[in-house]
Amino acid sequence: MPETIPRPDYVSRGRVGTPTGRQIQDQQSLERLRTACTVAAEVLSVTGEAVEPGVTTAELDAVAHAAYVERGAYPSTLGYKGFTKSICTSVNGVICHGIPDSRPLEEGDIVNIDVTAFVEGMHGDTSATFAVGRVNDATRALIETTREATLRGIAAVRPGEPLRRIGEAIEPFAASRGFGVIREYGGHGIGATFHADPHINHTVVPSDTARFEVGMSFTVEPMLTAGRPVYHQADDGWTEHTDDSMISAQFEHTVVVTSDGAEILTVTREGLSPAGILPR
Ligand code: MF3
Ligand code: CO
Ligand code: CO
Repeated sequence: MPETIPRPDYVSRGRVGTPTGRQIQDQQSLERLRTACTVAAEVLSVTGEAVEPGVTTAELDAVAHAAYVERGAYPSTLGYKGFTKSICTSVNGVICHGIPDSRPLEEGDIVNIDVTAFVEGMHGDTSATFAVGRVNDATRALIETTREATLRGIAAVRPGEPLRRIGEAIEPFAASRGFGVIREYGGHGIGATFHADPHINHTVVPSDTARFEVGMSFTVEPMLTAGRPVYHQADDGWTEHTDDSMISAQFEHTVVVTSDGAEILTVTREGLSPAGILPR
């Protein structure tokens, strides 16, 4: 990493020093968050274009790393709680937090690429699941349902409504297509802090009565499974695998609550994203 690119506090000081409460943006901080989110979307697009059979996830990490640096951004995962890579790459039965390695991707695999960019003092977090070459219909259905579930969750946000609206939009929809939703990993508040309040459930949690507020920024990042939504952690202390080895997909956007809904911030300058965008 060039020394001129500012690092998050947990990298320079070894611990999270920024506030971990709900992240509410004003006009100025929202502009900075927008910049970080645009960079994240661009890094995700560029890295996704490099996905093809024979490419290793370590090579994808190198593509992403160069793309962050070109944009003056620091990869938020690099040095975060001991993580040593610039993206997470979660292949097939890996649910999340996969570590880029030397295994070449094979035709028919799926890979989630999770990008977090730190720039202008803000983190922008976004991910998408990519097919490697041609995939079978069941795999394609999981990918497309997960993308739609993510967008439905975002579309359910309204200021003043309870946070549980997101899980209510996601879990029954996934179930109607025969897919499970991981309960234990949720979205998170994000802004000057990488992982902050509130916790965003992707499953139905009736007791989740905290409410959306204008300016609140957080991620929506559901993980759907073809089999049972039950997982275990690998010995590396990061990689979360499905217990039944069946495939899992994930998409993620960083959003901000507006006066009438939520705006997706993790889009390119052209307003696009491999994670999909809301119809307008
Ligand atoms: N980007 C992931 C998220 O969506 C977090 C990755 S943390 C890491 O919250 F340490 F695993 F990289
Ligand atoms: Co996230
Ligand atoms: Co992420």
